[in-house]
Amino acid sequence: MKNIDYMDIIKYYGKEILESENFKKEKQFIQHGNITVYEHSIAVAIKCIKLAIKLNIPVDIEALVKGSLLHDYFLYDWHESDKSHRLHGFTHAKTALKNAERDFKLSEIEKNMIYCHMFPLNLRIPKYRESILLCIADKIVATKETVMPYINILANYQEYLYR
Ligand SMILES: [Fe+2]
Ligand SMILES: [Fe+2]
Repeated sequence: MKNIDYMDIIKYYGKEILESENFKKEKQFIQHGNITVYEHSIAVAIKCIKLAIKLNIPVDIEALVKGSLLHDYFLYDWHESDKSHRLHGFTHAKTALKNAERDFKLSEIEKNMIYCHMFPLNLRIPKYRESILLCIADKIVATKETVMPYINILANYQEYLYR
């Protein structure tokens, strides 16, 4: 299982999403550090597949890919101060689901994945294995994206110190 091309799986099941103009808009919005929402969503989809394989969890792979790609489909820059972006952490999952339902045909699993992905910040309990995997994968990826710039700064500083 070492030579799995995760991007091939994502392109296969997420083709319609990846080719849509609204999803491409995520390339304009920053999620954490200098990572865009587009990059973040793909990284989370890859992490979901990796976790499912590693933990040997049977999943609906199409739902896993589509739900994870669309989990942050809120389509605005949450760093911009705007009344509607207030409480982004609490509200964006609902906004993402509303947008995703408008633009794509979603299964119950995919809807639950998007709506509950901020658990436990939002007390919407994930109902499916795919939703739980997304919760975990999103937190792992988000933590890496937030912490990595500081680790890089530290690494550069150490390099400078010991040069
Ligand atoms: Fe999110
Ligand atoms: Fe996310």
